[in-house]
Amino acid sequence: MKVAFIGTGSMGSLLIEAFLRSGALHPHFIYASNRSREKADGLAKRYPGLRAVSSNVEAAAGSQIIFLCVRPLDYPLILAEIADVLDESQIVVSITSPVQIEMLEGRIPCKIAKIIPSITHSALSGASLCIYGQRILPEDRLLLEQLMSSISEPVVIDESETRIASDISSCGPAFIAFILQEWAEAAARHTGLEYHHAIRLGAEMLHGTGKLLTGGGFSPEELQRRVAVPGGVTAEGIAVLRARLQHVFSALIETTHRKFEEDLSKLDQSFTKQAGQV
Ligand SMILES: NC(=O)c1ccc[n+]([C@@H]2O[C@H](COP(=O)([O-])OP(=O)(O)OC[C@H]3O[C@@H](n4cnc5c(N)ncnc54)[C@H](OP(=O)(O)O)[C@@H]3O)[C@@H](O)[C@H]2O)c1
Repeated sequence: MKVAFIGTGSMGSLLIEAFLRSGALHPHFIYASNRSREKADGLAKRYPGLRAVSSNVEAAAGSQIIFLCVRPLDYPLILAEIADVLDESQIVVSITSPVQIEMLEGRIPCKIAKIIPSITHSALSGASLCIYGQRILPEDRLLLEQLMSSISEPVVIDESETRIASDISSCGPAFIAFILQEWAEAAARHTGLEYHHAIRLGAEMLHGTGKLLTGGGFSPEELQRRVAVPGGVTAEGIAVLRARLQHVFSALIETTHRKFEEDLSKLDQSFTKQAGQV
């Protein structure tokens, strides 16, 4: 099997490294291309057998799966570049939320999937969001979900849910890290507990809480019931959070959705411009 990664920046290299570490892919399967050659060359040096190729065409031609790991505005150029070497037997996977499956199906003959990964996959965990185009067959889904399950928990969603689901699974690690940082800074400021101790305690707590909420049989409501006994310290703390956080998550969702709409419109213009040049 030949698997291509076009774009080996942050996410492209994270996916490659996770697939290699999990044993799901052998370096010999992987063909990687990147605009600035050094990033792909660096991967080839670290993982003997992995091929850093000098063009996207070389990566895409004959690959069973092609991961497009570039930013949305880079799509029109890359699609125009590789379209001639693609055929209907290949699967193209987009990892970015604003690029719509319909846009891709209109440009290239391949089977299209959108799989939104998360930084958590570098710890072989977290949910990957799987969205399938019309040409994807049951065996293609099986192949993709087998591959993704080596580094994550694949969750199939509808394309209309992409933004909100990505907010939680892909942006979520940054949001939660920010909350932890704020909490640890306040702890250090108010009590003198060392910042790095607060972070360590918080990180272990998040790890354990995640386990309880996944394999541990707890729901968020049950977890709160078990920890926040009436009249206790935790219950008082939850009352503060309830009062202060009420509007925060609505504002967060409104903001990410507004930014997403802006990105969609820029992308639309970019696809239209590219079509005009072809
Ligand atoms: N970061 C996350 O947690 C996350 C999670 C889910 C999805 N995503 C999505 O993943 C996508 C990539 O994000 P990223 O963080 O990996 O960005 P990134 O670090 O900027 O990587 C993008 C890579 O694409 C390369 N590239 C650009 N144009 C190219 C071309 N024509 N041919 C070949 N390679 C090209 C760039 O090369 P250069 O070295 O020349 O710049 C760069 O290495 C984004 O759309 C993002 O929305 C990210």
